[in-house]
Amino acid sequence: MKIMAVFGTRPEAIKMCPLVLELKTRQGVDMVVCVTGQHQEMLEDVLAKFHVVSDHNLDIMLPDQTLFDITTRILERIQSVLKEEKPDLVLVHGDTSTAFCAALACFYLHIPVGHVEAGLRTYDLDAPFPEEFNRQAVGLVANWHFAPTEAARQNLLAEGKKAESIYVTGNTGLDALRLILDDNYSHPVLEWAAGKKLVLLTAHRRENSGEPFIHIFKAVRRLTERFSDICVIYPMHMNPKIRKLAREILGGNPQVKLLEPLNPYDFQNIMAHSALVLTDSGGIQEEAPALGKPVLVMRDTTERPEGVEAGTLKLTGTSEEEIYCAASALLSDEAVYEKMAHAVNPYGDGYASHRIADILCVNMEDRVCNKSGSDSKTLAYNQKRT
Ligand code: UD1
Ligand code: UDP
Repeated sequence: MKIMAVFGTRPEAIKMCPLVLELKTRQGVDMVVCVTGQHQEMLEDVLAKFHVVSDHNLDIMLPDQTLFDITTRILERIQSVLKEEKPDLVLVHGDTSTAFCAALACFYLHIPVGHVEAGLRTYDLDAPFPEEFNRQAVGLVANWHFAPTEAARQNLLAEGKKAESIYVTGNTGLDALRLILDDNYSHPVLEWAAGKKLVLLTAHRRENSGEPFIHIFKAVRRLTERFSDICVIYPMHMNPKIRKLAREILGGNPQVKLLEPLNPYDFQNIMAHSALVLTDSGGIQEEAPALGKPVLVMRDTTERPEGVEAGTLKLTGTSEEEIYCAASALLSDEAVYEKMAHAVNPYGDGYASHRIADILCVNMEDRVCNKSGSDSKTLAYNQKRT
């Protein structure tokens, strides 16, 4: 059976490469990788680290691309690849425009879709924008929903998805983290921060464009003014608008290093050595709790409530004052810090890819022959799990 993985951005690649590698080891699976190239440098870094080579690259990225650019270019270019490869199943991940467009193209061509990291929801189409729409739309057309957590499964059930099409597998992001972490890791940034508290910053969400980014960077500047014992690193997203603001507000600050995006090996190992993470990222909300790092989530809402409930994530919104106060409390009060700094793993044990591959291998042959929904084996898996 032929399975095609389609992905295009850094986080999708980080979370899909472990699954691609796992499926490549399975007998009877002809694994094809199609990257859309929604990201370029940031995607190539990840593919290189996991030694995954794409069979097709739609190469769609444009400087300062709009959502219209991404959507039209993927839809135009993916059609011929799908018609040429004729996969039995296409796997997409999460909530990017790549995932949405690939799933839509499969829907038009009647190709079954498996959704990895299914069921995350805020039910606010403006936050995250446009990701909440993308993941709901992928969910509409997907035949297989690989939910990372029970809460995600419940969202899908509440939307009326068939129970037998949903599998709780854990998040493949934790698989990547397991493969990447290195006990003997060293990096010049860690030497630079030696003896200080390392604060890791990431910020890139489209809905934070403009004022919210200014608030975020100003809050960080105030933190460096108050705490001489902190060092901040910000591996900047490639988005030129964000980089400009970051340079204007944080450039030249001796306590701040503005870096190029780090490859996942460096990023995740540096996170393991950090004291505190400030982020608006999705994936980092899964990785940092597993490492026991307190995370201030600079967003108003999250589709990852498990980490908030477990106490390692705190939503601050994007007001300068809120971010400054929450971070100050963590940096000045050991009790506050210790309360948040404990490792929890609501997102899996690092073997989600193995589980997804098992499920596909047990069930796919039947599904390929009779393209209906579930069968007794899928039910058996879900019954065993509960
Ligand atoms: C996209 C995803 C978002 C995900 C994020 C991960 C959508 C709608 N958004 O947002 O869900 O969290 O990726 O990072 O799919 N750029 C480069 N080089 C690169 C990558 C990006 O120059 O390697 C530039 C692009 O040209 C673009 C900008 O960065 O102008 C933003 O990239 P884009 O993919 O459009 O959106 P993201 O904000 O990255
Ligand atoms: N990451 C990385 N290098 C960086 C910043 C982040 O490898 O400089 C990784 C991080 O470990 C996580 C993923 O990229 O796995 C998160 O990507 P991003 O924040 O861009 O997207 P999101 O998860 O918000 O969709």
